[in-house]
Amino acid sequence: MSEQQIEVQDNAGIVRLTINRPKALNALNSEVIDKLASILDGLETHENLRAVLITGAGEKAFVAGADITEMRDKTPEQARVFAGQALATIKRLETLPVPVVALVNGFCLGGGCELALACDWAVASDNAVFGQPEVLLGVIPGFGGTQRLPRRVGPAMALDLVTTGRKIDANEALRIGLVNRVMPQAELEDYVAELTQQLGGNGPRSVRAAKQAVHDGMDQDLDSALALETSLFALCFAGEEQTEGMSAFVEKRKPNF
Ligand code: HXC
Repeated sequence: MSEQQIEVQDNAGIVRLTINRPKALNALNSEVIDKLASILDGLETHENLRAVLITGAGEKAFVAGADITEMRDKTPEQARVFAGQALATIKRLETLPVPVVALVNGFCLGGGCELALACDWAVASDNAVFGQPEVLLGVIPGFGGTQRLPRRVGPAMALDLVTTGRKIDANEALRIGLVNRVMPQAELEDYVAELTQQLGGNGPRSVRAAKQAVHDGMDQDLDSALALETSLFALCFAGEEQTEGMSAFVEKRKPNF
């Protein structure tokens, strides 16, 4: 397996993952999924992890989907195993305790869109193209798209996208809530660097608690989710971060987290 299928850069706990198959528009094959799983082994035990950024090499694609060449001859059982392993790995990325940001340049299709949907943030270049074109290949999304897309954009728009397979541009993706920001391509890197610095500079315990409250709460009824929020809110008062954050406000200085 090539070590370079995914490049990893760690800048003081802000980790950038670059899927590096530009000749295949960064399509996700089994090797890339396996590599991501082994990188996650390290991230899950990383003591100073602050934020994770995931992107694709080159300016043409984030990820143009699962690898069609690899999938073409699969049996139903092999397809189940492939989808299952990828789903489990993407879930591990989603449930990292820190914010995960998708930096989307160019094509973000099929499994690529599903990968972005598992991220907390998606920032797109103005030339990005999104879609779930699986029905055009005789299949359906298999990396979580039929489930995460309706949760992100609502069932009507999700059904529109997964049943037509149509592609949408970055501005439509922004309008339907699929991405958080759209930036001119030339400004994308600077913007994301600023964003990850900001995410990484906030109180690490409170950022983690905020992510946990939103993610875990989404799977619960409202009363249980509100009780979860109260517990996590109270826990924030058990550490130094809250003392530092509130003291800094009162003393009119910047907090030092
Ligand atoms: C394998 C892919 C690929 C993919 C592109 N390539 N997408 N290889 N799997 N998903 C390869 C092409 O074969 C080509 O290789 C090279 O990348 C460049 O692509 P071109 O098609 O020549 O580029 P262009 O004409 O600019 O068109 C770009 C594109 C098109 C519109 C993104 O490549 C495209 O439609 N790709 C497929 C998108 C898609 O259907 N994604 C969903 C896959 S299914 P060569 O060797 O010819 O240069 C899926 C299911 C997930 O994701 C769930 C699974 C369980």
